[in-house]
Amino acid sequence: GAPVEVDVGKLAPGEMMTVEWRGKPVWILRRTPEMLASLDKTAGLVSDPESEKPQQPEYAKNKFRSIKPEYLVTVGICTHLGCSPSEKFKAGAESGMGPDWVGGFLCPCHGSQFDLAGRVYKSMPAPDNLEVPPHKYLADTTIIVG
Ligand code: FES
Repeated sequence: GAPVEVDVGKLAPGEMMTVEWRGKPVWILRRTPEMLASLDKTAGLVSDPESEKPQQPEYAKNKFRSIKPEYLVTVGICTHLGCSPSEKFKAGAESGMGPDWVGGFLCPCHGSQFDLAGRVYKSMPAPDNLEVPPHKYLADTTIIVG
């Protein structure tokens, strides 16, 4: 598949868009400062906090799992059996995920939970963090995926 150029400048803080790359949904989430701060709270609860597994690109091997902290770019496919996780961006009791939830994603198929960097929580069916696709910035808010 051809690389996909995406203008992320229209995204408001806290908003996510989906683009298609090689038939897969790629999510681009513009994270708010609160969303970024939540990643320190989940660091001890996820199984691979720095994304050290070899299949990830070098620029995903940090707690934000991104080139620029503000933008998460990840494939929206659960690493368990390929379902599509749902956005659970609200934190706390109103999330429906329990009072300690700080925001992330929930896979409807077997309940795997991911934080706002796509890091999978410990003891979930999904073995790995959500995949970060190969991508780079062509300009400040222009990303090319692939
Ligand atoms: Fe997502 Fe099984 S496919 S938890």
